Amino acid sequence: MKKNINAIILAAGKGTRMKSESPKVLHKIFDKTLLGYVLDAVNKTNLIAKSYVIVGHQAENVESFVKKNYDNASTALQMPQLGTGHAVSMVCSQLEDFVGEVIILCGDTPLVQEETLTKFIEYHRAQNSDLTVMSAIFEDPTNYGRIVKNGDKLNSIVEEKDANAEQKKIKEVNAGIYCLNWQKIKPAFSQLTSNNAQGEYYLTDIISWGGKQGLNINAYTLENNEEIFGINSKVHLAQATKMLNQRIINRHLENGVTIVDPDSTWISIDTEIGADTVIYPSVYITGKNTIGKNCKIGPFAHIRGGVELGDNVKIGNFVEVKQSKIASDTNACHLTYIGDSEIGSGVNVGAGTITANYNHFTKVKSKTVIKNGASIGSNSVLVAPVEIGERANVGAGTVITKDIVNKALAVARAPMKIVENYTK
Ligand code: UD1
Ligand code: MG
Repeated sequence: MKKNINAIILAAGKGTRMKSESPKVLHKIFDKTLLGYVLDAVNKTNLIAKSYVIVGHQAENVESFVKKNYDNASTALQMPQLGTGHAVSMVCSQLEDFVGEVIILCGDTPLVQEETLTKFIEYHRAQNSDLTVMSAIFEDPTNYGRIVKNGDKLNSIVEEKDANAEQKKIKEVNAGIYCLNWQKIKPAFSQLTSNNAQGEYYLTDIISWGGKQGLNINAYTLENNEEIFGINSKVHLAQATKMLNQRIINRHLENGVTIVDPDSTWISIDTEIGADTVIYPSVYITGKNTIGKNCKIGPFAHIRGGVELGDNVKIGNFVEVKQSKIASDTNACHLTYIGDSEIGSGVNVGAGTITANYNHFTKVKSKTVIKNGASIGSNSVLVAPVEIGERANVGAGTVITKDIVNKALAVARAPMKIVENYTK
Protein backbone atom coordinates (compact mmCIF):
# COMPACT_ATOMS: atom_id res chain seq x y z
CA MET A 1 0.00 0.00 0.00
CA LYS A 2 1.14 3.50 -0.75
CA LYS A 3 1.79 5.87 2.11
CA ASN A 4 0.50 9.02 0.51
CA ILE A 5 -1.86 10.61 3.03
CA ASN A 6 -0.80 13.40 5.37
CA ALA A 7 -2.13 13.62 8.89
CA ILE A 8 -2.73 16.75 10.93
CA ILE A 9 -2.98 16.22 14.68
CA LEU A 10 -4.41 19.03 16.78
CA ALA A 11 -2.53 19.32 20.05
CA ALA A 12 -2.16 23.01 20.83
CA GLY A 13 -4.89 23.27 23.47
CA LYS A 14 -4.07 23.99 27.07
CA GLY A 15 -5.78 21.18 28.93
CA THR A 16 -6.55 23.38 31.94
CA ARG A 17 -8.64 20.70 33.62
CA MET A 18 -5.68 18.32 33.85
CA LYS A 19 -4.36 20.67 36.61
CA SER A 20 -0.85 19.76 35.63
CA GLU A 21 2.50 21.34 34.83
CA SER A 22 2.79 18.99 31.83
CA PRO A 23 1.01 19.53 28.54
CA LYS A 24 -2.13 17.40 28.22
CA VAL A 25 -1.00 15.33 25.24
CA LEU A 26 2.19 14.28 27.05
CA HIS A 27 0.28 12.62 29.87
CA LYS A 28 0.76 8.88 29.79
CA ILE A 29 -1.24 5.68 29.79
CA PHE A 30 1.23 3.01 30.83
CA ASP A 31 4.53 4.30 29.42
CA LYS A 32 3.11 5.94 26.34
CA THR A 33 1.94 9.52 25.88
CA LEU A 34 -1.59 10.30 24.66
CA LEU A 35 -0.09 11.84 21.54
CA GLY A 36 2.04 8.70 21.09
CA TYR A 37 -1.09 6.53 20.92
CA VAL A 38 -2.59 8.76 18.23
CA LEU A 39 0.64 8.89 16.18
CA ASP A 40 1.07 5.12 16.49
CA ALA A 41 -2.52 4.45 15.36
CA VAL A 42 -2.01 6.77 12.40
CA ASN A 43 1.29 5.11 11.44
CA LYS A 44 -0.05 1.58 11.84
CA THR A 45 -2.54 2.19 9.02
CA ASN A 46 0.47 2.15 6.67
CA LEU A 47 -1.28 4.87 4.69
CA ILE A 48 0.32 7.96 6.21
CA ALA A 49 3.36 9.63 4.69
CA LYS A 50 3.77 12.37 7.24
CA SER A 51 2.08 13.78 10.35
CA TYR A 52 1.96 17.45 11.27
CA VAL A 53 1.33 18.03 14.96
CA ILE A 54 -0.10 21.45 15.83
CA VAL A 55 1.51 22.62 19.06
CA GLY A 56 0.90 25.66 21.25
CA HIS A 57 0.66 25.18 24.97
CA GLN A 58 4.15 24.10 26.15
CA ALA A 59 5.08 23.79 22.50
CA GLU A 60 8.76 23.04 23.16
CA ASN A 61 8.07 19.93 25.22
CA VAL A 62 5.59 18.53 22.73
CA GLU A 63 7.93 19.36 19.87
CA SER A 64 10.89 17.60 21.45
CA PHE A 65 8.75 14.52 22.14
CA VAL A 66 7.70 14.38 18.48
CA LYS A 67 11.24 14.94 17.20
CA LYS A 68 12.73 12.31 19.44
CA ASN A 69 10.19 9.57 18.71
CA TYR A 70 8.73 10.02 15.23
CA ASP A 71 10.88 10.60 12.19
CA ASN A 72 7.87 11.00 9.87
CA ALA A 73 6.28 13.74 11.98
CA SER A 74 6.95 17.43 12.48
CA THR A 75 5.29 20.20 14.44
CA ALA A 76 3.74 23.56 13.56
CA LEU A 77 3.31 26.29 16.14
CA GLN A 78 -0.12 27.83 16.71
CA MET A 79 0.19 30.95 18.84
CA PRO A 80 -2.27 32.17 19.98
CA GLN A 81 -4.84 29.38 19.72
CA LEU A 82 -7.82 30.79 17.90
CA GLY A 83 -9.74 27.58 17.29
CA THR A 84 -9.55 24.22 15.53
CA GLY A 85 -9.89 25.76 12.05
CA HIS A 86 -7.12 28.24 12.81
CA ALA A 87 -5.00 25.30 14.05
CA VAL A 88 -5.23 23.48 10.72
CA SER A 89 -4.42 26.66 8.80
CA MET A 90 -0.98 26.63 10.48
CA VAL A 91 0.16 23.97 7.99
CA CYS A 92 -1.52 25.38 4.88
CA SER A 93 1.71 26.96 3.65
CA GLN A 94 3.70 23.74 4.21
CA LEU A 95 1.07 21.79 2.29
CA GLU A 96 0.57 24.47 -0.37
CA ASP A 97 1.35 22.11 -3.25
CA PHE A 98 0.31 18.81 -1.69
CA VAL A 99 -2.13 16.83 -3.81
CA GLY A 100 -3.94 14.03 -2.03
CA GLU A 101 -5.87 13.31 1.13
CA VAL A 102 -5.35 14.78 4.56
CA ILE A 103 -6.72 13.20 7.71
CA ILE A 104 -7.27 15.40 10.76
CA LEU A 105 -7.43 14.05 14.33
CA CYS A 106 -7.03 15.29 17.91
CA GLY A 107 -4.00 14.50 20.04
CA ASP A 108 -6.02 13.75 23.16
CA THR A 109 -8.03 10.72 21.95
CA PRO A 110 -5.65 7.82 22.68
CA LEU A 111 -8.24 5.07 22.18
CA VAL A 112 -8.60 5.57 18.44
CA GLN A 113 -7.62 2.40 16.55
CA GLU A 114 -5.78 1.92 13.29
CA GLU A 115 -8.50 -0.42 11.94
CA THR A 116 -11.07 2.34 12.39
CA LEU A 117 -8.90 4.91 10.66
CA THR A 118 -8.30 2.51 7.78
CA LYS A 119 -12.04 1.80 7.39
CA PHE A 120 -12.76 5.52 7.58
CA ILE A 121 -10.28 6.29 4.80
CA GLU A 122 -11.60 3.38 2.70
CA TYR A 123 -15.13 4.73 3.11
CA HIS A 124 -13.99 8.20 2.07
CA ARG A 125 -12.43 6.72 -1.08
CA ALA A 126 -15.36 4.44 -1.88
CA GLN A 127 -17.76 7.42 -1.72
CA ASN A 128 -15.43 9.44 -3.89
CA SER A 129 -15.82 11.95 -1.13
CA ASP A 130 -14.25 15.39 -1.01
CA LEU A 131 -14.77 15.66 2.71
CA THR A 132 -15.72 12.93 5.17
CA VAL A 133 -16.36 13.52 8.83
CA MET A 134 -16.50 10.77 11.42
CA SER A 135 -19.68 10.86 13.44
CA ALA A 136 -20.93 8.98 16.48
CA ILE A 137 -24.32 8.42 18.03
CA PHE A 138 -24.50 9.44 21.69
CA GLU A 139 -27.46 9.02 24.03
CA ASP A 140 -26.17 12.16 25.74
CA PRO A 141 -24.62 14.33 23.03
CA THR A 142 -23.90 17.29 25.35
CA ASN A 143 -20.77 19.29 24.49
CA TYR A 144 -20.24 17.73 21.08
CA GLY A 145 -20.80 19.42 17.77
CA ARG A 146 -24.11 18.18 16.26
CA ILE A 147 -24.32 16.76 12.76
CA VAL A 148 -27.08 18.65 10.97
CA LYS A 149 -28.49 16.85 7.93
CA ASN A 150 -30.85 17.70 5.15
CA GLY A 151 -32.47 14.33 4.57
CA ASP A 152 -29.42 12.11 3.99
CA LYS A 153 -27.19 15.00 3.07
CA LEU A 154 -24.77 16.49 5.51
CA ASN A 155 -25.54 20.17 5.93
CA SER A 156 -23.36 21.53 8.73
CA ILE A 157 -21.92 20.91 12.17
CA VAL A 158 -23.28 23.09 14.93
CA GLU A 159 -21.37 23.44 18.19
CA GLU A 160 -23.20 22.99 21.49
CA LYS A 161 -22.81 26.68 22.30
CA ASP A 162 -24.26 27.75 18.96
CA ALA A 163 -27.06 25.17 18.75
CA ASN A 164 -30.73 25.98 19.07
CA ALA A 165 -33.08 23.83 21.16
CA GLU A 166 -34.01 21.68 18.18
CA GLN A 167 -30.37 21.08 17.16
CA LYS A 168 -29.41 20.20 20.73
CA LYS A 169 -31.69 17.15 20.47
CA ILE A 170 -29.60 15.67 17.64
CA LYS A 171 -27.76 12.59 18.85
CA GLU A 172 -25.38 12.23 15.94
CA VAL A 173 -22.25 14.17 16.86
CA ASN A 174 -18.95 15.16 15.34
CA ALA A 175 -16.29 12.70 16.48
CA GLY A 176 -13.55 15.16 15.54
CA ILE A 177 -11.85 13.08 12.82
CA TYR A 178 -11.92 14.24 9.21
CA CYS A 179 -10.63 13.07 5.85
CA LEU A 180 -10.34 15.62 3.09
CA ASN A 181 -9.32 16.02 -0.47
CA TRP A 182 -6.74 18.65 0.37
CA GLN A 183 -6.69 20.77 -2.77
CA LYS A 184 -10.50 21.04 -2.78
CA ILE A 185 -10.89 21.96 0.90
CA LYS A 186 -7.72 24.01 1.46
CA PRO A 187 -9.27 27.30 0.20
CA ALA A 188 -11.80 27.06 3.08
CA PHE A 189 -9.11 27.77 5.65
CA SER A 190 -8.50 31.30 4.40
CA GLN A 191 -12.24 31.97 4.40
CA LEU A 192 -13.28 30.80 7.88
CA THR A 193 -14.72 33.45 10.19
CA SER A 194 -14.96 33.60 13.97
CA ASN A 195 -18.52 34.82 13.97
CA ASN A 196 -19.87 32.37 16.58
CA ALA A 197 -20.56 31.95 20.29
CA GLN A 198 -16.93 31.17 21.14
CA GLY A 199 -15.33 33.72 18.80
CA GLU A 200 -13.17 30.91 17.35
CA TYR A 201 -12.27 29.78 13.87
CA TYR A 202 -14.12 26.46 13.79
CA LEU A 203 -12.75 23.59 11.74
CA THR A 204 -16.31 22.30 11.60
CA ASP A 205 -17.31 25.22 9.38
CA ILE A 206 -15.57 23.49 6.44
CA ILE A 207 -18.71 21.31 6.19
CA SER A 208 -21.12 24.12 5.37
CA TRP A 209 -18.41 25.80 3.27
CA GLY A 210 -18.01 22.61 1.22
CA GLY A 211 -21.78 22.31 0.84
CA LYS A 212 -21.92 25.76 -0.70
CA GLN A 213 -19.17 24.78 -3.15
CA GLY A 214 -21.24 21.77 -4.20
CA LEU A 215 -18.61 19.31 -2.95
CA ASN A 216 -19.31 15.68 -2.07
CA ILE A 217 -19.50 15.58 1.73
CA ASN A 218 -20.22 12.48 3.81
CA ALA A 219 -20.40 11.26 7.37
CA TYR A 220 -18.99 7.91 8.47
CA THR A 221 -20.53 6.60 11.69
CA LEU A 222 -18.17 5.16 14.24
CA GLU A 223 -19.05 1.70 15.57
CA ASN A 224 -17.46 1.94 19.00
CA ASN A 225 -17.84 5.34 20.68
CA GLU A 226 -15.07 4.53 23.14
CA GLU A 227 -12.53 5.25 20.41
CA ILE A 228 -13.11 8.99 20.45
CA PHE A 229 -13.08 9.29 24.22
CA GLY A 230 -11.17 12.54 24.74
CA ILE A 231 -9.03 13.21 27.79
CA ASN A 232 -9.74 16.48 29.59
CA SER A 233 -9.01 15.60 33.22
CA LYS A 234 -7.22 13.08 35.39
CA VAL A 235 -10.56 11.33 35.86
CA HIS A 236 -10.75 10.83 32.09
CA LEU A 237 -7.14 9.65 32.08
CA ALA A 238 -7.90 6.95 34.63
CA GLN A 239 -11.06 5.94 32.78
CA ALA A 240 -9.21 5.72 29.46
CA THR A 241 -6.47 3.61 31.07
CA LYS A 242 -9.12 1.14 32.26
CA MET A 243 -10.87 1.03 28.88
CA LEU A 244 -7.61 0.49 27.04
CA ASN A 245 -6.48 -2.18 29.50
CA GLN A 246 -9.77 -4.02 29.09
CA ARG A 247 -9.37 -3.96 25.32
CA ILE A 248 -5.78 -5.27 25.54
CA ILE A 249 -6.74 -8.01 27.98
CA ASN A 250 -9.57 -9.16 25.73
CA ARG A 251 -7.14 -9.36 22.82
CA HIS A 252 -4.79 -11.59 24.83
CA LEU A 253 -7.65 -13.78 26.09
CA GLU A 254 -8.77 -14.26 22.50
CA ASN A 255 -5.21 -15.21 21.58
CA GLY A 256 -5.14 -17.99 24.17
CA VAL A 257 -3.47 -16.28 27.11
CA THR A 258 -4.98 -17.17 30.49
CA ILE A 259 -5.60 -14.11 32.64
CA VAL A 260 -6.90 -15.18 36.01
CA ASP A 261 -8.19 -11.80 37.18
CA PRO A 262 -8.61 -9.20 34.42
CA ASP A 263 -9.62 -6.61 37.01
CA SER A 264 -6.25 -6.59 38.74
CA THR A 265 -4.07 -7.17 35.68
CA TRP A 266 -2.50 -4.34 33.71
CA ILE A 267 -0.89 -4.95 30.33
CA SER A 268 0.49 -2.24 28.06
CA ILE A 269 -0.51 -2.02 24.41
CA ASP A 270 2.98 -2.90 23.13
CA THR A 271 3.28 -6.23 24.97
CA GLU A 272 3.07 -9.49 23.01
CA ILE A 273 2.21 -12.66 24.90
CA GLY A 274 2.31 -16.25 23.63
CA ALA A 275 -0.56 -18.71 23.99
CA ASP A 276 -0.98 -20.75 27.18
CA THR A 277 0.91 -18.24 29.26
CA VAL A 278 -0.87 -17.68 32.56
CA ILE A 279 -1.01 -14.23 34.13
CA TYR A 280 -1.93 -14.42 37.82
CA PRO A 281 -3.62 -11.58 39.73
CA SER A 282 -2.03 -8.20 40.46
CA VAL A 283 0.46 -8.08 37.63
CA TYR A 284 1.60 -4.78 36.09
CA ILE A 285 3.23 -4.91 32.66
CA THR A 286 4.27 -1.63 31.07
CA GLY A 287 6.34 -0.57 28.02
CA LYS A 288 7.32 -2.83 25.11
CA ASN A 289 7.75 -6.50 25.94
CA THR A 290 7.60 -9.95 24.39
CA ILE A 291 6.50 -12.82 26.58
CA GLY A 292 6.75 -16.34 25.17
CA LYS A 293 4.37 -19.29 25.31
CA ASN A 294 3.45 -21.22 28.40
CA CYS A 295 5.03 -18.76 30.85
CA LYS A 296 3.73 -18.10 34.35
CA ILE A 297 3.70 -14.46 35.44
CA GLY A 298 2.81 -13.34 38.96
CA PRO A 299 0.92 -13.03 41.17
CA PHE A 300 2.32 -9.58 42.07
CA ALA A 301 4.92 -9.26 39.32
CA HIS A 302 6.15 -6.06 37.66
CA ILE A 303 7.46 -6.12 34.10
CA ARG A 304 8.74 -2.67 33.28
CA GLY A 305 9.53 -2.64 29.57
CA GLY A 306 12.27 -3.84 27.25
CA VAL A 307 11.69 -7.38 28.50
CA GLU A 308 11.93 -10.47 26.29
CA LEU A 309 10.95 -13.78 27.83
CA GLY A 310 11.32 -17.12 26.03
CA ASP A 311 8.86 -20.00 26.49
CA ASN A 312 8.12 -21.70 29.84
CA VAL A 313 9.60 -18.87 31.88
CA LYS A 314 8.36 -18.30 35.44
CA ILE A 315 8.33 -14.80 36.89
CA GLY A 316 6.81 -15.20 40.32
CA ASN A 317 5.60 -13.07 43.20
CA PHE A 318 7.38 -9.80 43.93
CA VAL A 319 9.69 -10.14 40.98
CA GLU A 320 10.55 -7.02 38.96
CA VAL A 321 12.11 -7.28 35.51
CA LYS A 322 13.20 -4.49 33.18
CA GLN A 323 15.37 -4.24 30.04
CA SER A 324 16.28 -7.90 30.17
CA LYS A 325 16.26 -11.02 28.03
CA ILE A 326 15.42 -14.28 29.72
CA ALA A 327 15.62 -17.46 27.63
CA SER A 328 13.25 -20.45 27.83
CA ASP A 329 12.75 -22.68 30.89
CA THR A 330 14.25 -20.20 33.34
CA ASN A 331 12.65 -19.45 36.70
CA ALA A 332 12.74 -16.39 38.93
CA CYS A 333 9.96 -17.28 41.30
CA HIS A 334 10.26 -15.03 44.34
CA LEU A 335 11.36 -11.59 45.54
CA THR A 336 13.86 -10.74 42.83
CA TYR A 337 15.06 -7.76 40.80
CA ILE A 338 16.35 -8.42 37.29
CA GLY A 339 17.51 -5.32 35.42
CA ASP A 340 19.73 -4.87 32.32
CA SER A 341 20.39 -8.60 32.24
CA GLU A 342 20.76 -11.40 29.76
CA ILE A 343 19.83 -14.73 31.26
CA GLY A 344 20.18 -18.04 29.42
CA SER A 345 17.84 -21.01 29.45
CA GLY A 346 17.33 -23.49 32.25
CA VAL A 347 18.60 -21.02 34.85
CA ASN A 348 17.23 -20.92 38.38
CA VAL A 349 17.29 -17.48 39.96
CA GLY A 350 16.84 -18.07 43.67
CA ALA A 351 14.56 -16.12 45.99
CA GLY A 352 15.82 -12.67 46.86
CA THR A 353 18.36 -12.37 44.05
CA ILE A 354 19.26 -8.83 43.04
CA THR A 355 21.11 -7.72 39.93
CA ALA A 356 22.83 -4.56 41.19
CA ASN A 357 22.83 -2.70 37.89
CA TYR A 358 22.97 0.95 38.89
CA ASN A 359 25.72 3.19 40.21
CA HIS A 360 24.05 6.15 41.84
CA PHE A 361 27.14 8.38 41.57
CA THR A 362 28.13 7.74 37.96
CA LYS A 363 24.49 7.14 36.88
CA VAL A 364 25.84 4.26 34.80
CA LYS A 365 23.77 1.11 34.41
CA SER A 366 25.69 -2.12 33.80
CA LYS A 367 24.83 -5.51 32.46
CA THR A 368 24.54 -8.88 34.16
CA VAL A 369 24.97 -12.02 32.07
CA ILE A 370 23.92 -15.42 33.36
CA LYS A 371 24.65 -18.35 31.04
CA ASN A 372 22.55 -21.48 30.43
CA GLY A 373 21.91 -23.83 33.29
CA ALA A 374 23.43 -21.65 36.01
CA SER A 375 22.02 -21.65 39.52
CA ILE A 376 21.86 -18.46 41.54
CA GLY A 377 21.45 -19.18 45.24
CA SER A 378 18.93 -17.31 47.32
CA ASN A 379 19.70 -13.83 48.57
CA SER A 380 22.59 -13.25 46.16
CA VAL A 381 23.66 -9.88 44.86
CA LEU A 382 25.22 -9.82 41.39
CA VAL A 383 27.14 -6.56 41.13
CA ALA A 384 27.16 -5.62 37.44
CA PRO A 385 28.96 -5.66 35.11
CA VAL A 386 29.36 -9.36 35.78
CA GLU A 387 29.04 -12.72 34.03
CA ILE A 388 28.06 -16.07 35.53
CA GLY A 389 29.24 -19.00 33.38
CA GLU A 390 27.26 -22.01 32.14
CA ARG A 391 26.11 -24.37 34.86
CA ALA A 392 28.00 -22.27 37.40
CA ASN A 393 26.65 -22.22 40.91
CA VAL A 394 26.40 -19.16 43.13
CA GLY A 395 26.09 -20.08 46.80
CA ALA A 396 23.20 -18.59 48.74
CA GLY A 397 23.91 -15.22 50.29
CA THR A 398 26.88 -14.44 48.05
CA VAL A 399 27.78 -10.98 46.76
CA ILE A 400 29.31 -11.56 43.33
CA THR A 401 31.79 -8.93 42.17
CA LYS A 402 33.88 -10.97 39.69
CA ASP A 403 32.99 -13.10 36.66
CA ILE A 404 32.45 -16.81 37.39
CA VAL A 405 33.69 -19.37 34.87
CA ASN A 406 31.56 -22.26 33.60
CA LYS A 407 30.70 -24.99 36.09
CA ALA A 408 32.46 -23.23 39.02
CA LEU A 409 31.02 -22.63 42.47
CA ALA A 410 31.24 -19.11 43.86
CA VAL A 411 30.48 -18.60 47.47
CA ALA A 412 31.35 -15.67 49.72
CA ARG A 413 30.02 -16.06 53.18
CA ALA A 414 31.38 -15.56 56.71
CA PRO A 415 31.98 -19.02 58.18
CA MET A 416 29.09 -20.12 60.35
CA LYS A 417 29.85 -20.60 64.00
CA ILE A 418 27.93 -22.73 66.47
CA VAL A 419 28.33 -21.72 70.07
CA GLU A 420 27.05 -24.48 72.25
CA ASN A 421 25.18 -23.76 75.47
CA TYR A 422 25.14 -20.07 74.52
CA THR A 423 21.83 -19.16 76.21
CA LYS A 424 22.48 -21.06 79.32
C1 UD1 B 1 -14.39 19.82 18.80
C2 UD1 B 1 -15.37 20.05 17.63
C3 UD1 B 1 -16.69 19.39 17.96
C4 UD1 B 1 -16.48 17.91 18.21
C5 UD1 B 1 -15.41 17.69 19.29
C6 UD1 B 1 -15.07 16.22 19.36
C7 UD1 B 1 -14.74 22.22 16.68
C8 UD1 B 1 -15.11 23.64 16.54
N1 UD1 B 1 -15.54 21.46 17.44
O1 UD1 B 1 -14.93 20.48 19.90
O2 UD1 B 1 -17.58 19.56 16.89
O3 UD1 B 1 -17.69 17.30 18.57
O4 UD1 B 1 -14.21 18.42 18.99
O5 UD1 B 1 -14.20 15.99 20.43
O6 UD1 B 1 -13.75 21.78 16.10
N2 UD1 B 1 -7.01 22.74 19.43
C9 UD1 B 1 -5.91 23.36 18.87
N3 UD1 B 1 -5.94 24.70 18.67
C10 UD1 B 1 -7.01 25.46 18.98
C11 UD1 B 1 -8.14 24.82 19.55
C12 UD1 B 1 -8.10 23.46 19.75
O7 UD1 B 1 -4.91 22.71 18.57
O8 UD1 B 1 -6.94 26.68 18.76
C13 UD1 B 1 -6.98 21.30 19.64
C14 UD1 B 1 -7.16 20.91 21.09
O9 UD1 B 1 -5.90 20.80 21.73
C15 UD1 B 1 -7.85 19.56 20.97
C16 UD1 B 1 -8.63 19.66 19.67
O10 UD1 B 1 -8.06 20.73 18.96
O11 UD1 B 1 -6.92 18.50 20.83
C17 UD1 B 1 -10.13 19.87 19.89
O12 UD1 B 1 -10.31 21.09 20.55
P1 UD1 B 1 -11.40 21.28 21.67
O13 UD1 B 1 -11.30 22.63 22.21
O14 UD1 B 1 -11.35 20.13 22.61
O15 UD1 B 1 -12.72 21.19 20.78
P2 UD1 B 1 -14.16 20.80 21.29
O16 UD1 B 1 -14.80 21.98 21.87
O17 UD1 B 1 -14.11 19.56 22.08
MG1 MG C 1 -12.60 18.48 23.15
